[in-house]
Amino acid sequence: MTWKKNILITGGAGFIGSHLVRLFVTKYPHYRIINLDKLTYAGNLENLKDIESKENYVFEKADIVNKEELIEIFDNYQITDVIHLAAESHVDRSIEGPMEFVMTNVVGTVNLLQVAKDMWKEGEHVFHHVSTDEVYGSLGDDGLFEETTPYDPRSPYSASKASSDHFVRAFYHTYNLPVKISNCSNNYGSHQFPEKLIPLMINNIVLKKPLPIYGKGDNIRDWLWVVDHAKAIDEIFHKGKIGESYNIGGLNEWKNIDLVKYLCRLLDKKLGREEGESEQLITFVKDRSGHDKRYAIDASKIEKELGWKPSVTFEQGLEKTVDWYLENKEWINKVTSGDYQDYYKKMYQNKS
Ligand code: NAD
Ligand code: TYD
Repeated sequence: MTWKKNILITGGAGFIGSHLVRLFVTKYPHYRIINLDKLTYAGNLENLKDIESKENYVFEKADIVNKEELIEIFDNYQITDVIHLAAESHVDRSIEGPMEFVMTNVVGTVNLLQVAKDMWKEGEHVFHHVSTDEVYGSLGDDGLFEETTPYDPRSPYSASKASSDHFVRAFYHTYNLPVKISNCSNNYGSHQFPEKLIPLMINNIVLKKPLPIYGKGDNIRDWLWVVDHAKAIDEIFHKGKIGESYNIGGLNEWKNIDLVKYLCRLLDKKLGREEGESEQLITFVKDRSGHDKRYAIDASKIEKELGWKPSVTFEQGLEKTVDWYLENKEWINKVTSGDYQDYYKKMYQNKS
């Protein structure tokens, strides 16, 4: 079989990556999808069980920090395009230990850029770098992040992602590498590791454990269903302009406390609990250091130029998400056994 493209998706065993791999493997049978993942605590091949035997799917366990491994994979599969998601992705972990974030997010990204530059001497290629809105810093009560908003990262995580975005742009200007960048707001959906707000709260509500809200719970995030993020990446990868950035977001701002209360009410209904029962689990804990106040995305560029918009409301997406966690207790049990217990103790034991 000759493949129309050999697309390397990095971080394909993670939360967003697994949704993207699934979308591409099923929608584009004429592309071969090579999923490269180190399988850190956040990577899980169970996320891809339903597509792992497809002819156009291959998995390669590798570390983007190791350039030799990347060269071998580019060579073996004649990689034509890259969609780069592999990263350390959790702000709280970056506060505890920034160096892992520098290695994977900065050094790993520069390795990939260099290998792509050296391998792609001719033909048509795309290097799509998947990034976050957190590179723009923190908003006050008004305003939205636009593609032209100056970078102002404040956490070690966002500083590492901002640095990787700068390198991607530098490779476009300096070496003409055909790059595209997307900066997305907070994602939620199935298969998200329960260190992030929504799956952590769902899991704790189910288990009747305290619901740790940082500070007063008045920080604001703009939430997008992960499947809509994957669809936006698909649009940008195929139709976006080389050298440009696209913001992706849901125009869906929620204060953390309101969101957690909404989840409590939804789960009270689903679990047949008394109304208000789960809300009693809410516990205000010590705030995150350097906690960004508000993120909100202006997604008008991708809407106007590429015709993308979210396909579900937040209420619909959250219901699908909660149902998935309730139906997949084995998944949650597996990822929260072992190391997760140590992580949870370390991060939350001294917070209240
Ligand atoms: P995740 O933590 O769930 O998954 C990251 C994946 O990368 C895991 O499968 C992990 O094993 C892999 N990985 C980590 N280090 C690696 C290395 N050195 N080599 C190879 N693979 C490695 O993250 P996610 O939430 O799915 O985020 C994916 C990407 O999207 C990241 O680049 C993140 O910055 C970006 N992003 C995330 C969000 C969000 O809300 N989660 C929003 C915007 C952008
Ligand atoms: P998170 O899911 O870690 O995403 P990010 O920090 O990248 O936006 O956190 C979302 C918001 O929820 C953020 O304002 C921090 C807050 N939060 C809590 O209040 N308690 C928690 O246990 C966690 C993990 C997050």
